[in-house]
Amino acid sequence: MKIAVTGKGGVGKTTFSGTLARLLAAEGYRVLAVDADPDANLAAALGIPEAQYKKIKPLSKMKKLAEERTGATGGYGSFFILNPKVDDLPEKYCLEYQGVKLLVMGTVEQGGSGCVCPQHTLLKRLMKHLLIEREDVVIMDMEAGIEHLGRGTAESVDALIVVVEPGRRSIQTAKQIKSLAEDLGIEKIFAVGSKVHDEADIQFITDSLVDFELLGFIPLSEEVKKADLEGVSPFDIGGTIVQEISSIKDKLLARLNGRENP
Ligand SMILES: Nc1ncnc2c1ncn2[C@@H]1O[C@H](COP(=O)(O)OP(=O)(O)OP(=O)(O)O)[C@@H](O)[C@H]1O
Ligand SMILES: [Mg+2]
Repeated sequence: MKIAVTGKGGVGKTTFSGTLARLLAAEGYRVLAVDADPDANLAAALGIPEAQYKKIKPLSKMKKLAEERTGATGGYGSFFILNPKVDDLPEKYCLEYQGVKLLVMGTVEQGGSGCVCPQHTLLKRLMKHLLIEREDVVIMDMEAGIEHLGRGTAESVDALIVVVEPGRRSIQTAKQIKSLAEDLGIEKIFAVGSKVHDEADIQFITDSLVDFELLGFIPLSEEVKKADLEGVSPFDIGGTIVQEISSIKDKLLARLNGRENP
């Protein structure tokens, strides 16, 4: 089961992804959480202690590895393997915590759309491997946009979850993402309301997203804000926020036919 989480900046994607990953792991799923945001902070949302995650180096920064795997040693313009070996990378470079394996991909700054530098080639190949060839539950925390999924890979996303907060810009972004996702061939696109304060917020999101299937609403929570400041994961503080994300998880599993059991 491959789940990609996206939405406008700051809406709560990482909070949701981290909690969902921990909830699924607690149920016995083998979960691979992928941080595909250049400003990586999924580790903290998963509850990984800072001393541990500070040591993580994103794969995108491993220039040597990319060169080794792609055989590119002669600098730009040289030939290299476009289909490098990546199947051992998730095990080698992930950090395991409470049943969740975390892989920090990072992103590569592209020099134009035709850029095929070794790091970019390696990450693209890895993304494809994670989405197409692996059996785990993969939860990918992405930045606001799905452009880097690319054709062929995007089709393997079982569910794209767009996180929205009560606000027009977030709704606008969600609509743009949906249209792009449909172009890429993603069939199941869902929305999750985040940071909702009251019924009016829920109504606003519901009315604004009539074309979306809404899986649920995560309340605006002082505890989450506090947990973030203290470096504690929302999953570990529990309460209504975790209950709500758990109910979103159940709906999602039901919609994906509960195809995969732990
Ligand atoms: N339900 C919530 N209630 C209160 N605060 C929240 C909630 N969800 C997220 N936050 C806070 O909002 C901020 C952004 O959350 P988060 O990092 O999950 O969003 P994001 O969409 O991943 O952001 P980015 O686009 O920067 O990756 C954090 O400080 C987080 O603690
Ligand atoms: Mg984030």
